[in-house]
Amino acid sequence: MDKLIITGPSQLKGTIKTSSSKNSSLPIMVATLLSEGTITINNLPKLKDVSTMTKLLKNLGAEIEESADGKTIFNTSNLKSYEANYEMVKTMRASFFVLGPLIARYGRATVSLPGGCAIGARAVDIHLDGLAKLGAEIELKGGYVHAKAKKLKAAEIILSFPSVGATENLIMAASLAEGTTLIKNAAREPEIIDLANFINKMGGHVEGAGNSDIIIEGVSSLNNSIQYSVIPDRIEASTFIIAGIITNSNIIVQNVVTKHMDAILDALKHMGANFKITHNSDSAINDSIEIIPHPSSQAVTLKGIHIDTAPYPGFPTDVQAQLMPLAIKAGTPSVITEHIFENRFMHVPELNRMGANILLKGNSAFIEGNTKLTAAPVMCTDLRASAALILAALVAEGETEVCRVYHLDRGYEFIDKKLTDLNVSVRRIPGGPF
Ligand code: UD1
Repeated sequence: MDKLIITGPSQLKGTIKTSSSKNSSLPIMVATLLSEGTITINNLPKLKDVSTMTKLLKNLGAEIEESADGKTIFNTSNLKSYEANYEMVKTMRASFFVLGPLIARYGRATVSLPGGCAIGARAVDIHLDGLAKLGAEIELKGGYVHAKAKKLKAAEIILSFPSVGATENLIMAASLAEGTTLIKNAAREPEIIDLANFINKMGGHVEGAGNSDIIIEGVSSLNNSIQYSVIPDRIEASTFIIAGIITNSNIIVQNVVTKHMDAILDALKHMGANFKITHNSDSAINDSIEIIPHPSSQAVTLKGIHIDTAPYPGFPTDVQAQLMPLAIKAGTPSVITEHIFENRFMHVPELNRMGANILLKGNSAFIEGNTKLTAAPVMCTDLRASAALILAALVAEGETEVCRVYHLDRGYEFIDKKLTDLNVSVRRIPGGPF
């Protein structure tokens, strides 16, 4: 396992381009299982999770090739397996998303239950209840979901919680079901809209994505051969914006969709951050955000915040960890309350080892502001916790060793290069038991 050594404090400068969204890319890759055409995705990010998904789809029999100009071409006409095994699903929970499309197109699927993961139990009951409503016969045996259906039939499905993955799984399944499905209390994340746009381009009829009610008119096949570009990663963009703010630096983050980031940008503004948004009138995905540094020390200019994570359009759980180093540097205390996952504060003990003073009580973190961070060896526990440690390392005095960065490589494309391009002193030590 690699580790990163970051020497701080850093003064950032320069411009970086946000990569394509991981959380859009994964379900969109899965949705190629629905298609009888040839699908070209123009801009998949080079991430560990994307290569894991490629491996899973190839195991099922998908043909996937990369063109010389970096596009990825999918053909899923000749599947030979309908099983996602435990090894795959435990490595990456998004593997579970193949369940819906496999039953919808091939009438059968065997997919391992994900089990627990570092940030919480992450059940799949909402996925399974919805698929059962669509007529899938589901049996749980030996840690696996065995599902079959001659032909899925449309239904009205009310989600008990707006689960992102369940909404995606059910949109995919309902796209090839007989009749018109209504999903109520659906997740509203931008990645859901991206998936719906992708399915519609392939010939599907998904309406209302981005709202709580989504209507899917099933079609007998999806056979358009298409090219598609995935939206930019709002979580990666937020991480780099916070990097600029926390170091009081002048940087520009390009290739962002600011309307996907309202809750995050509002929170940062509330804390006193100063940034300039430039909208590109020619391209919906090409806004840019310039961080304007404060002339005086940020410790006295930023103020604390009370944040509650919530499903979109609320403040995303995926940026909660990254906001914490900023709260540590703010002049007044903050409270961050996590409502989506039950165990998503694993960065807290590591940040405390760097000198932070954060008290955990139930699902809230009470953060004393105006605290100096110092370098220490720290351990990444999950993807966004890793990003929080990198942000803390940028302002900590000395060499921070960030161990187990494979979590980071799952979701941040070219992280070392992007940090280096922004003038961060970072080096990767490969291998080792760290
Ligand atoms: C997706 C994102 C992840 C993000 C999360 C919440 C991807 C690949 N991952 O994960 O980055 O943090 O949304 O925005 O897009 N739940 C159940 N039963 C279910 C499904 C979910 O109880 O059947 C619970 C989970 O345990 C969790 C909460 O609902 O506590 C949210 O999960 P969900 O929205 O499904 O997240 P994911 O799709 O796994």
